[in-house]
Amino acid sequence: MVTPEAYTHFRETMEYIRRYYQGSVEVGIVLGTGLGGLAENIEKEVQLAYNFIPHFPISTVESHFGRLIFGQLGGKKVVAMQGRFHYYEGYTMYQITYPIRIMKLLGAHTLLLSNAAGAVNLTYKLGDLMIIRDHINLLPENPLRGINLDQLGPRFPDMSQPYDRGLIARARSIAQDLNVPLQEGVYAAVPGPNLETAAEYRYLRIIGADVVGMSTVPECIVANHMGMRVFAMSIITDIGDPDNLKPVSLEEIITVASQAEPKLTRIFTELVRSL
Ligand code: HPA
Repeated sequence: MVTPEAYTHFRETMEYIRRYYQGSVEVGIVLGTGLGGLAENIEKEVQLAYNFIPHFPISTVESHFGRLIFGQLGGKKVVAMQGRFHYYEGYTMYQITYPIRIMKLLGAHTLLLSNAAGAVNLTYKLGDLMIIRDHINLLPENPLRGINLDQLGPRFPDMSQPYDRGLIARARSIAQDLNVPLQEGVYAAVPGPNLETAAEYRYLRIIGADVVGMSTVPECIVANHMGMRVFAMSIITDIGDPDNLKPVSLEEIITVASQAEPKLTRIFTELVRSL
């Protein structure tokens, strides 16, 4: 839950980061499961391990190598999270979205998010990229619950367009130039960590989702609260066909994500360049 101590936390985190990185950043980037490849394209200036940054959550084993990367991408100053925090790992929503708030305090006006997701729209294929046009929040807690941080944004932020239409249009034209097909649809966020039952995939389709995943929505809500422009993209790593549901493992999800990752990296890089 958000408490008045947040401002003290921010100050202490910023003091630490400022010892190593004094510049401003324009764009924040969150790299999802199996999608760390973009980090190789960043001309790195400073890298900070999460575990040493005050008030960053202590990483669990899975995100052990989590770090903040400061540098240049497409000629722009960026800060990238290599490894994010998920609700299923036991973090609070405040912890999960804490780095996004720090990105904004560092100057980022735009946030790019990526994730691995399962398709419930059965026209989608493994390895497809999908621009997130809208979302459905099925997580049990909202990252804005608690006191409103008036210095960051309003109590009741608007969500009529959580994903910036201008960035979506630009990404579409970039993808066309690169000859990369793109889907566009609705992302449903669930707590996980289990994947869905057949009945749950059917339900998600009925309520209007195209894909389902365990991240992204908390970060998007907090970024919108602070007035950041958000762009998000999913890689389809498995197909949730309720009438023909096959077992799927984390290894398969990561393999599909890594194979499709170069397409996402190209689009993100050109999108950042165009800002
Ligand atoms: N469900 C939820 N989260 C996921 C999935 C899925 O099918 N695939 C990748 N992340």
